[in-house]
Amino acid sequence: MKQSIMEYDTVALDDENSALVIIDQTQLPYNTEILHLKDQKSIWDAIYLLQVRGAPAIGVAAGIAIYLAAKEIDADNFDDFYKQFVKAKDYLDSARPTAVNLSWALKRMDDVVRANKDKSIAEIKEILHKEAVKIKEEDTWVCKTIGEYGLSLLKPGMGLLTHCNAGQLATSKYGTATAPMYLGHEKGYNFRVFCDETRPLLQGARLTSYELQESGIDTTLICDNMAPSVMKKGWVDAVFVGCDRVAKNGDTANKIGTSYVALAAKYYGIPFYVCAPTSTIDMNCASGDDIHIELRSAEEVTEMWYEKRMAPEGVKVFNPAFDVTDAQNITGIITEYGIAYAPFEESLKEIFAKKETAAKK
Ligand code: MRU
Repeated sequence: MKQSIMEYDTVALDDENSALVIIDQTQLPYNTEILHLKDQKSIWDAIYLLQVRGAPAIGVAAGIAIYLAAKEIDADNFDDFYKQFVKAKDYLDSARPTAVNLSWALKRMDDVVRANKDKSIAEIKEILHKEAVKIKEEDTWVCKTIGEYGLSLLKPGMGLLTHCNAGQLATSKYGTATAPMYLGHEKGYNFRVFCDETRPLLQGARLTSYELQESGIDTTLICDNMAPSVMKKGWVDAVFVGCDRVAKNGDTANKIGTSYVALAAKYYGIPFYVCAPTSTIDMNCASGDDIHIELRSAEEVTEMWYEKRMAPEGVKVFNPAFDVTDAQNITGIITEYGIAYAPFEESLKEIFAKKETAAKK
């Protein structure tokens, strides 16, 4: 029997072969191709090309990637080792700019290296291995907990809408925006979920509708420009989306098109929730204006997915991969330490205070 996509690891470490193992997401839903990536250039390309994508999954992949790079470093003193480690870290960090999880995971690995500089190189490599595994394991707990908080806001039979893929394919398990859907499904909540197809790279069509349908959830795919129509019909009780970077004031970068879903939801009086692991909240970023939005190639808009080019040669194209939803259009930010409400600057600080207290226990 064909293995369900839900049974695969989105991102894994193959210790025996020293490889980062991912599902090539550019080939879904038709081909489930598993890639074993061993060198840093292939890993950089996989992140840039969105073979592995979604903020938390990028973070998990980065943790594994920098461990693999460190394992290969041939140095007999810390300074030499650290110089090469930083070079590999900076290279990986340059693959994509918006999802903070990439630099978050690399910084976390850097922190453990510096905290253990008095240990032998072999011991430091072992500590990095443990930390990479921990980042992945934590992600599953984080997503499940976000799911439980999200589900506490919902009732059986509700209609939900999501944009892009903040699903299992974007995380270690459960997803963030989809976690309440999966946990509710296990409890027989019978949600009806609308997935925006998410132009131009079709993460909603190719990935979200695929994984939800494979899980047996009532799933309806719509084009991005149909969201207000289904909202007007009263078919949507709540919107759940993921995020790539949340600023201190609650402004949130997520896949392009998210901000217009938030505007429509506000107009129709529908709650709009951002599901945000604390690893995606950047308290060093004051507002959405400070978030670097990745610009991608024109071909993604003009010809990708089409049999032949669907736009005139030479036309100007603007292709930002993300947009920023203003905090004022967000009902709540659901984290693994609770739900933050406006004013977000204060509530997000409280979330991080809870995280700190939990870490001390
Ligand atoms: O360009 P992508 O596919 O990496 O963009 C992904 C998103 O925008 C997701 O919504 C976000 O990373 C959250 S994933 C839990």
